[in-house]
Amino acid sequence: MTRIVAANKDSISEAAAMLRDGKIVVLPTETVYGLGANALDSEAVAKIFEAKNRPNFNPLIVHVMDKDSASALVEMNEEAHKIADTFWPGALTLILPRKENTGVSDLVTAGLSTLAVRVPSHKVMREVIKQAGVPIAAPSANNSGEPSATTPAHAAQSLGDGVSYVLAAGACDVGLESTVLDLSGDIPIILRPGVVTLEDIKNYLENVEIDASTKDKPKSPGQLLKHYAPNIPVRLNAVDVKEGEALLAFGSIKFMGLKSGGPVKDMPTSAFRNLSENADLNEAAKNLFMMLRDLDKPEHKAIAVMNIPDEEIGVAMNERLARAAQK
Ligand code: TXA
Ligand code: MG
Repeated sequence: MTRIVAANKDSISEAAAMLRDGKIVVLPTETVYGLGANALDSEAVAKIFEAKNRPNFNPLIVHVMDKDSASALVEMNEEAHKIADTFWPGALTLILPRKENTGVSDLVTAGLSTLAVRVPSHKVMREVIKQAGVPIAAPSANNSGEPSATTPAHAAQSLGDGVSYVLAAGACDVGLESTVLDLSGDIPIILRPGVVTLEDIKNYLENVEIDASTKDKPKSPGQLLKHYAPNIPVRLNAVDVKEGEALLAFGSIKFMGLKSGGPVKDMPTSAFRNLSENADLNEAAKNLFMMLRDLDKPEHKAIAVMNIPDEEIGVAMNERLARAAQK
């Protein structure tokens, strides 16, 4: 049985105690829900891989309170300091050379010489990290390959019996996973786009690039081709809705029709979601994984998704959707 418990003083202390005790707990963050464990405890970290069915070559992000705690675990260069001072706490993960003898389990890094670190801004998550008193390894709280969970119920549903405790704090604000920025190589590379965009980072690091190879030879082991995928097919850039399809809309549906005749507004509500009626990209990002899961029902032949502008957080949404649509 999975307990879903609203975050309050007592449940936060209970979650922190469970983490200290080597257990895994689902935790809220501003991006997506995370499945947390004490990063110093290999047995605890192994439970994450088991609960998620995650391949053990895919390394985890370690969550800490502040830049100082991060620099105890990784070699911070000048660029890292600049970026950390600007974007932490927040939805940005840094890949940096890991330090020796920090106690971080080798399972966390999957044998790599680098470590992913993030300082989250979510109040509940920060209080849990503080009370646990250890760095927290946490991937997204979903079964490997499924869309990330952005609500407590979706995390519980996706992980099933693999997890016993969900610390619940409503829907996540951002709705997409953190931007992953690799500062361990010659030039800064964005391995995973997110709400902190290429343009945002360019204001501080002129020579940053988006990893163009993510699609064929991912540098981040987690950026496997088929990822973030619902159980039914996803059809992108839809301008109409085919027989049996569900529709994930973005903006106005006034001019959109059903292939079988009639307007989209006549669709059953169970087959229709709108990411943002006002075409607001941030609202759409917050809703993306939640609505994909809502529409992921065997009675639908596919999910038709309307075009989303490739700008701001839309870049990250389109990257996730392209993976979801991979056959
Ligand atoms: O917003 C987020 O980042 C959420 C919340 C819970 O913090 N976490 C998250 O973790 O999305 P996960 O494990 O689902 O995605 C982490 C990504 C994976 O693609 C993984 O391969 C990559 O980061 N990664 C982790 N360590 C890495 C490393 N040392 N080098 C390259 N990529 C790494
Ligand atoms: Mg994930």
